[in-house]
Amino acid sequence: MKAIVAMTRNRVIGQNNRIPWRLRGEQGWFKEVTMGHPILMGRKTFESIGKPLPGRRNLVVTRTGNFTGVDLIRDLRTFDPAVYELDGGEIFIIGGAEIYAALLHRCDGIYLTIVKEEFAGNAYFPEFESEFKISQTIRNTPEFDILCYTRCSCNEQ
Ligand SMILES: NC(=O)c1ccc[n+]([C@@H]2O[C@H](COP(=O)([O-])OP(=O)(O)OC[C@H]3O[C@@H](n4cnc5c(N)ncnc54)[C@H](OP(=O)(O)O)[C@@H]3O)[C@@H](O)[C@H]2O)c1
Repeated sequence: MKAIVAMTRNRVIGQNNRIPWRLRGEQGWFKEVTMGHPILMGRKTFESIGKPLPGRRNLVVTRTGNFTGVDLIRDLRTFDPAVYELDGGEIFIIGGAEIYAALLHRCDGIYLTIVKEEFAGNAYFPEFESEFKISQTIRNTPEFDILCYTRCSCNEQ
């Protein structure tokens, strides 16, 4: 599994259940990476988006919520990504904060957009730098950079 996220340097990813920025080219990047792949998200992120994202199998993590057009994941402890990766390629974890915090330790890579402007927020991306290293710089723009991180044993010499 891989995570895909956009955060500010202060780790903000959301404010009041929405993403507080709109950056030209960033949504296109998200679509390009995730299209055709299963995507997994928390119930709050799904409600914030408002509908299943087309062209991708949508997996929504919720203990009690019921939504149509998506696969419902009731328990992350017994969640087996291999079941969904058989035909559609790798799963992308698309947020939000609770879901990143619960699943980052099971991811082997992160596509990280660093948003250069600061925004107020109340949802944050967890610390990951001790377990992942930059493997590729994908894009640099005045508003944001896109970096690819891969799992490593960064603290071991
Ligand atoms: N910048 C970005 O790249 C990005 C990407 C995605 C989201 N976001 C932002 O992140 C914020 C939302 O994050 P969030 O942490 O508040 O919510 P979230 O992670 O999207 O969803 C949390 C919900 O997921 C369900 N859940 C969590 N752990 C579970 C488990 N172990 N088993 C079953 N269900 C579980 C629960 O749903 P139930 O309450 O229904 O049980 C919980 O309320 C929003 O501001 C959104 O805009 C930003």
